[in-house]
Amino acid sequence: MSATRTAQVQTKRRKRKESISKSAFRVKYLRRSRKLWNRYLNSRPWVNQLYESFLGIRPGQKIVDVGCGPGDFTRYLARLSEGNSKILGVDSNPESIKAGIADTKRAHLSHVVSYKLGDAYKIPIDDDYADLTCCRTLLMHLDDPLKAVREMARITKLGGHVVAVEQGKMGIYYDPNDKRFSRLSDQVWEAQLRGIRKLEGKEFRIGEKLPGIFQEAGLVDMKAEIQNNLYLASDPRQPLNDVKEELRFYLAFFKERMEKDRKYVVAGGLSNAKVSEYNKGYVSKIEGLLADDQKLRRDPTISTDALYIVSGMKPRQT
Ligand SMILES: C[S@@+](CC[C@H](N)C(=O)[O-])C[C@H]1O[C@@H](n2cnc3c(N)ncnc32)[C@H](O)[C@@H]1O
Repeated sequence: MSATRTAQVQTKRRKRKESISKSAFRVKYLRRSRKLWNRYLNSRPWVNQLYESFLGIRPGQKIVDVGCGPGDFTRYLARLSEGNSKILGVDSNPESIKAGIADTKRAHLSHVVSYKLGDAYKIPIDDDYADLTCCRTLLMHLDDPLKAVREMARITKLGGHVVAVEQGKMGIYYDPNDKRFSRLSDQVWEAQLRGIRKLEGKEFRIGEKLPGIFQEAGLVDMKAEIQNNLYLASDPRQPLNDVKEELRFYLAFFKERMEKDRKYVVAGGLSNAKVSEYNKGYVSKIEGLLADDQKLRRDPTISTDALYIVSGMKPRQT
């Protein structure tokens, strides 16, 4: 084999290895965050009420969840339908599909939920198939969300609904004892969003743009709600061990990501020195809380994020 050919083969192998490890990281992260998320939902029953009433799932419906990952939202939809619907999860990551099938079997939901490998830009499903086509935190990861919403509309029946659950504005971090760090945290997050937009053409806070995108995709009768999540480590309704488990998870995730995310923050206009100051500050704050239960139970820091839930109907007549 020539030297050029060997180099080409090596590059191809390296890229494939990187892509597999990226996919596996995503699946690992999604699976690890599941327990925490379910616990959060259970402690806030009104969130379930919101989805129940907003989605209004009826027996016998066909539902598709696009960009389903390992199937958490897919199975959530199955539970909302009380096992009376046919639900299909679609994802372009084979690792996710494998994890989705295994986790669904474990949850005894395989008679209701199935999975298919496929691209949101070319969903492998016939026109006018679903009563309800959903996605959760998919469009924020795509460089052409309109194309995906058009595809979601295509596979939806006339008079059926397309629903997207995506991050939007309302992210807050505020520590009254460290206003400088609170400001820095806002700056980092804003710069990171700008950087992701600049380097990858993706809109992480796409929530407020959804009605416009839906309209452009030909959907009508838009409805919207917000699921605002708030975290306060000192809230006594949460057992201390649960709070600590959550903080450990976020810290580990942050450490895994912080150097990889630096390029976005810097591309978004913040200096390397500021990013280092933030990374150091975040790690030291969380490690400090984890090392001192009393401090943790008195910590007044509030952080929030928001999921926008937007629904549009495919017109009965085209
Ligand atoms: C943040 S995860 C959300 C997973 C799931 N919807 C949930 O809420 O738990 C985003 C998912 O979108 C999938 N994805 C990204 N681009 C896609 C595409 N073009 N077609 C299909 N799925 C895609 C990823 O593989 C990943 O599983």
